[in-house]
Parts: sequence; C-alpha cells; structure tokens
Amino acid sequence: MNVKKAIIPIAGLGTRFLPLSKAMPKELLPLVDRPAIQYVIEEILAAKMNEIIFVNRPKSKEVLEYFKKSPKLEKILQQRNKNNLLEEVKELTRISEKIIFSSVIQKEPLGDGHAILQTKKLLGNEATAVLFPDDIIDSDVPCVEQLCEIFKTCQKPVVALMKVPREQVTRYGVVAVEKIANRVYKIKKIIEKPSLEEAPSDLVIIGRYIHTPEVFDYLKKAKPSEKGEIILAEVMNRMLEDGKTIYGYEFKGERLDCGDKIGWLKSSIHFALKHPEFGQELKQSLKDEKL
Ligand code: UTP
Repeated sequence: MNVKKAIIPIAGLGTRFLPLSKAMPKELLPLVDRPAIQYVIEEILAAKMNEIIFVNRPKSKEVLEYFKKSPKLEKILQQRNKNNLLEEVKELTRISEKIIFSSVIQKEPLGDGHAILQTKKLLGNEATAVLFPDDIIDSDVPCVEQLCEIFKTCQKPVVALMKVPREQVTRYGVVAVEKIANRVYKIKKIIEKPSLEEAPSDLVIIGRYIHTPEVFDYLKKAKPSEKGEIILAEVMNRMLEDGKTIYGYEFKGERLDCGDKIGWLKSSIHFALKHPEFGQELKQSLKDEKL
C-alpha cells in the first residue's frame, strides 16, 4: 500500500491571526512571495503525490480560487508585456495542473480529528497523508516523503517527530517512545501540553502524519472533548491503548511554525533571507537597521 492522497485541513477559525482571519484564511498569508498553503502543496508534489483533499470552512472559496487557472489575467499580462509576472502566474498554473483537488466542508470547527473525519467519504481502503498547514517544513527531502518511506516498510500509521529544547515541551503534544532504529520510534503515549515534570521526552508531534483507514473507526466513535472537539491526538491515544502500533519518525529538516503572528514573522524572515531575488537586499537592510 503506497500513499497517493493528502488531506489538508483548513477549516479552523485561525483565532491567533484575528482580526485578519475574519476576512482571509490564514493559509493565504504570504511567506515572502507565496502563500503558506503553496509551500505545503509543493511539499506534496515533490513527494510525488498529486491528489489533495482540502477540509474547508463553509463558503470559504479563497484557497481553491488561488489555485484556479486564470486565462483572463494571463491574457492581460501578455497584452501589457508583463512577462515576468506572466511567468509567475503560469508557474502557479503549472503547479495546479499537476494536482487533482477535491474538497469537503466541515460545517463547524469541531476539532482537527473531526476535520479529518469529513474526508472519509472520499477515501477507499487506503492510507493517506495528513498535512497541517500551520507547520511548514524546510527540508531537502519533503517531510511527507520521509514519512512515506517509513510507511512503505511498516504499513502502520507514522507521525513526524521533532526534538525541542526541554523548556519548550509544554507547548506541544509530547510522546513517550521506545526507540527502534535511527530516528524511528514506537509511540507509547501522547501527552498534550504537559508540565515539565509530566513530559515523557523532548520529542514532540509536528503536523505531518500518515494514517491508515483504521483511524476513521476511532474518529467515528470518539467522544468530543470538554470543548466539544474531536482531537486527533486523543484519538491516537485511544488507538495506542487498544494496542495499535503507531510509529514516530524524527524527520530531517527545519519546522517553521506559521500558526501565530510571531511564528509567521520568523518564518517570513527565514524564507526571505534564503530568497534568490530578495535575500541579499533584505540582509543589507537588516544590517542598516543596526539590529
Ligand atoms: P489549529 O488549532 O492550529 O488552527 O489547527 P486554528 O484552530 O485554525 O487556529 P487557532 O488555534 O484558532 O489560532 C491546526 C489545523 O487544523 C485545522 C486548521 O485550519 C489548521 O490548519 N482545523 C482545526 C480544522 O480544519 N478544523 C478544526 O475544527 C480545527
């Protein structure tokens, strides 16, 4: 069983970006010259997958619009000899043409697990990748491809793990693990935002997963949390309690947290400094600011 489809949940409220997220999905916020969601789409394509399922909010068409072809715009740019811009728009069209997009609606933001459950009707008996677009991964080999490689041999769910400094574990889902090979772990338990004393390791879960169809059995029967949400981490814990195997892979690469304003700013600077056209000039201008 190989992984061909990728789910991207984008139906959350994005409260950490308010008031901006009242009118614009946070996934369209630009990191330099591309919206955050495009980095995730390019990761999926680079991993040789091309079927993408968005879990979207009701009436929210902006992300799908962004990836739609724009022949009228291309014609205007051509008539006005705006060749560089035309090339950029065409490049986006070329990316979109490689992908089969579908979308499902999550009527209310009832949690990341509930979002994934909405995709069940579009899936057969197959494993799928899940990518949360708050996390952008800068890596040589796409993070989701690294997980697929592990999945190929184990045929069990795989989650991306990252080591963080001990004092930061309280912000993440932290895993208790048994190491079984270089960078590969069997997950024993997930503890959401533990205290420093409770944290079983310095390995935390990042928003990249490979799930097998079994997860839907657990999502369907999951009880909502106190806030009325179905939380993926809790559902995975139920699976672990039932003796199911879930692997963790400490991926190679850098994770950029784009889920809040400061993370987005830092990620923008990260990609801007590496940008072939803007990097040098930005470096100089930061020096001129005498930081
Ligand atoms: P987050 O909890 O980080 O995002 O969910 P959020 O809820 O949109 O943002 P805040 O916390 O209010 O600022 C991670 C991902 O899961 C999606 C979000 O869109 C985001 O991409 N999500 C979350 C859903 O699709 N549905 C949900 O009910 C919750």
